[in-house]
This record gives sequence, structure tokens and C-alpha cells, in this order.
Amino acid sequence: MNDTIYDVLIIGSGAAGLSLALSLPENLNIAILSKETLTEGSTVYAQGGISAVADNKHDSIQSHIDDTLNAGAGLCSKEVVKNVITQGPEALKWLLDAGVPFTKDEKINSDGIDGLHLTREGGHTNRRVAHAADASGYAIETTLLEKVKQRKNISLFEYHIAVDLITSRKLKHLQRNNQNLGAYVLNRKTKKINIFRAKFTILATGGASKVYLYTSNPDGASGDGIAMAWRAGCRVSNMEFMQFHPTCLYHPHAKSYLITEAVRGEGGRLLLPDGTRFMEKYDSRAELAPRDIVARTIDHEMKRLGIDSVFIDISHRSKIFITEHFPNVYATCEKFGYDMSKEPVPVVPAAHYTCGGIVVDSVGQTDIDNLYAIGECSFTGLHGANRMASNSLLECIVYGQFCANDIIAKVDKQSNHFDIPEWDESRVTDSDERVVINHNWDEIRRFMWDYVGIVRTTKRLERARTRIEMLLHEIDEYYANFRITSDLLELRNLAEVARLIIRSAQRREESRGLHYTLDYPEKNPDLEQINTILDPIRRPSRQA
Ligand code: FAD
Ligand code: SIN
Repeated sequence: MNDTIYDVLIIGSGAAGLSLALSLPENLNIAILSKETLTEGSTVYAQGGISAVADNKHDSIQSHIDDTLNAGAGLCSKEVVKNVITQGPEALKWLLDAGVPFTKDEKINSDGIDGLHLTREGGHTNRRVAHAADASGYAIETTLLEKVKQRKNISLFEYHIAVDLITSRKLKHLQRNNQNLGAYVLNRKTKKINIFRAKFTILATGGASKVYLYTSNPDGASGDGIAMAWRAGCRVSNMEFMQFHPTCLYHPHAKSYLITEAVRGEGGRLLLPDGTRFMEKYDSRAELAPRDIVARTIDHEMKRLGIDSVFIDISHRSKIFITEHFPNVYATCEKFGYDMSKEPVPVVPAAHYTCGGIVVDSVGQTDIDNLYAIGECSFTGLHGANRMASNSLLECIVYGQFCANDIIAKVDKQSNHFDIPEWDESRVTDSDERVVINHNWDEIRRFMWDYVGIVRTTKRLERARTRIEMLLHEIDEYYANFRITSDLLELRNLAEVARLIIRSAQRREESRGLHYTLDYPEKNPDLEQINTILDPIRRPSRQA
């Protein structure tokens, strides 16, 4: 493995990683890693769809920009928002050309891209979310993956989990800039750690919502890329802005199954147990207010009334409409005993999206040469203090393409002939204390939910900080003594990301977007456009 030098190593096979791979030329030697099967990741579970202006009669780029800035509560980069949103229609056409089977409806959108049916979601003033019924992510992931599999220049490695990045600074090669050289990667089947050497490495590892006890995300959302980049010396920003999706199915065995915001977009109402509608009291946009507002309101009502859940009700629409638009959501609710066409369904908020991440520039370049980050693990400035629904898949596709263009411009001049030492396992043994891993996973996720959740206080954050420092100490010790497993790697990353979230939340002495604290319940106008940048090597301060 040490002898192969890939032109491009992509860590992650979700929407971001696959879009990048397909946007690179076929003469480049590319490796894509996934720590699970190739399809597993948040992308495949995406329901609502991808936002882009696709109806020229009723919608406009400016309106999409304004809605994104509005949801972002004063922290979006205006330049990034403009660049990404302007690129939206092209990104959508690119997906259509790739063969993604988006739902069509000429009647609703006769003047737009391919007569796509467009749905609505929170924060959007117009219908602008293209979707494949309620399995949009599945349609995108499987279509792109099929195309990637046809490319002879791309090698796919599933069940390969990246352990850490390899940088020139870590290897004590002295040159001016810190340069990324590849990654150490654990093959989960052979249990061997190999070197993947590359001219360019891209983190496309998704988010970190698994840090919370209740989450809509799959198990792998442990923030690996963010933690690896941080350890390698990259700045990380805005980690306090963890997004909670307002409506996940409330059932002990449903694992916080998401009920797409498009249900509210198509008329779904939120109700208290006695059938009263409540969102209108808090925001004129009612159920279609941005997610931070809806999730916080639900949390407030649940605490106020001491109830376990609120309810979502779309039973006033016909069964045909519901099963056509939401076949999977309907079937899942039915499996758990609820018929959406006849009755309200119990829902609660759950952690859903990591708005912060690895600081990157306009093409996904991080602070380390040859290292990029794209998709949910990155912090581009698009989402500000609260991501608007369906802007995430858009960001994945657009940055995949921006990043590819940058690599194409640089690849001919790039080499990587540093000596890289093999992974050293001579001082570790197999663990006889695996209970520590499970225990710490549970403990972190529980106190993050209780102390660093939808509503925070200074005291709760202090409590969380004390606990995470103690656990990190214990985990580091364990890591140094025992042979690595994927559970240990994920725990170590999860703990690092939890610390980054807590530290960022402690820095922000105001309430803005997704960060709400009872000790500073208002926005501080002086903090408008001020991001929370954490720097592992304390460079002279710069604005992202
Ligand atoms: P992911 O799709 O999460 O992929 C991450 C990849 O990285 C995986 O292949 C994983 O195996 C790999 N990986 C991670 N760590 C390692 C490691 N250490 N080593 C090797 N590989 C690694 N957004 C929208 O815009 N619209 C929606 O409708 C929508 N609905 C959603 C519904 C659900 C239930 C969820 C959970 C999210 C939804 N989102 C939606 C958010 C959106 O799906 C994600 O933000 C987006 O798909 C992230 O894509 P990604 O490529 O960055 O990462
Ligand atoms: C949803 O379908 O509600 C999720 C959309 C998103 O996270 O953007």
C-alpha cells in the first residue's frame, strides 16, 4: 500500500465525496474510502431533497439567497451564500444528467427545470426543493455510486476507517508549510493499519450528530473528519451550532426516525396532545419557520406541559397524496402503529446537522496544504447560525465541483515522495476492558443531550466541560495502551468533537440561531458576523 501514490484520496462516499470523484478527470488515480458499506452515511437517509431555484416564474436566486441569510441569523458569509445558491440550478441539472430520478409534476412547475415537482420546507419562501418522493438521498447516493463504479480510475475501499491524517509536520519534515501526505487507515476486516499516500486528501466524512443521545443520523456520524483535521492542526469553527430537527418519530424502537419537513411543507400541522395548534403563537411562519425556532418551540412546549412529545398531523390530506409523496415515511409510521392518513403522529426533536466544522476557503482548502474538506464536515460559511432545510445536499454537490476544479488546476505540479513510517503497534495489546468504550460512548451522548442540547446555560456547559476533559484523559490513556478498533476510533473522535462543541458554546455569550442559552437569551449585535473559530496551534488571529 505504501508504494501506491494516489492522486486523490477521498475519505467518505456520501454526496460530497462522490460528487468530487465524478467531477475529476478519468486520468487521475483516485481512492475512495468508506468506514461502512459504500452507501452508508447521512446522504442515503436524506428525505426532503435538494434546494435550488428551478421554477423561474415564481422563484429567484435572490429569494433563495435572502432566505438562506435569514435562516443563518447574521452569521452566513454573504459571498459564499451567493456563490453556492447561484450554482444551484447547474448542480440540479448535473444530478439530472447523472440520472437521479427526481419526482416530476409539469402542472406545478411547467416553466422550470425539467418540470420537476418542487416541495416546500422551513425557511423557504417558495417551492424550491427538488426531491425523489421522500427518498431523495437514496436516489442521489445510489445514482452517483453507480456512475463512480463505472470509472476504472477510481478504487473503492469499504470498511476502511481513517485513523489519522499524515502531515509533514507530524513526521518532522521541516519545510515552510504543513503539508498533508495521506492517512493511516484501518482495514476493518483484516484489522491491519495501512498507509494511503496521496497528492491530495479530501475529508468528506459527514457530521457529528451522534454526539447526542437522540439523533436522526446514522451510527457513523461521529465527527471523524473534524477530529482528525483538528488533531492535524486545522482550525474548526462554529461548532456550537448543532441543528436539531423538529420532527423525529417518538417511539422507543424508531431510533429517532425522521419525519421530513416536507410533510409540514405540504400542510402538516404541529399539535399539542389536546389537538391545539401552537406554532402560530410563536412565529408568523408557523410550522414553516426555520428549524431552530420550531425545534426550540417544541422543546419549550414539552417542558412547559411535562409531555413526552408533540404531534404532527397531515390527516386532512388524502391517503393517495400522502402515500405518493411520503411512501417511506407512511410505511415506517404504519410499522410503528400510526396511520398518518388518519391520525396525528407523535414527534420530538433530535440532533440532525453539524453547521460548524473544518474551516475551509471558497474551494474547500483547509489550513493544511493538499488537504480539503467538503460536505457536512466542513465550515464554508454557507449555513451561519442555522442551516436552512435542503441546503446541505446542495453544498455537498457544489463544493465537490469547486474542489475538483482546484485540484485539476494544481495536480500536475504536485508530488508526494516523503518517507512515511509504518503504523507502530509494538507497544499496545488487545484490550481486556472494552466496557470502558461502551460506557464512555453512553456517558458522552447523555450529558451532551442534557447539558449542551437545545437550551443551554452557563452552569450546564461548565458541567459538560468538566466531564469531557476527564473522559478525554481516560480515552487518551486507553488509546495509547490498546490495539485500535473502529469503536475506539469513533469514541476518541466523538469525545474530541464534544469538547469542540462545548468550548465553542462557552465562547458565545449570546443566543443566536441554534445556540440558545438562558443566561444570554438575546442576540448581541456586536457578535453579528463573528464566527467562533478554535485554533489548535494558535495562529495569529484571522477571520474566516
Ligand atoms: P455523509 O453522507 O454522511 O457521508 C460520510 C461518509 O464518510 C460515509 O461514506 C462514511 O463511511 C465516511 N466516513 C466517515 N468517517 C470516516 C472515516 N474515519 N474513515 C473512512 N470513512 C469515513 N440534507 C438536505 O440537504 N436535504 C435533505 O432532505 C436532508 N435530509 C436528511 C435526512 C436525514 C435523516 C439526515 C441524517 C440528514 C439529512 N440531510 C439532508 C443532511 C444531509 O443528508 C447531509 O448533510 C449530507 O448528506 C452529508 O453528506 P456528506 O457527503 O458530507 O456525508
Ligand atoms: C427533511 O427532510 O426534513 C430534512 C431536510 C434537511 O435536513 O435539509
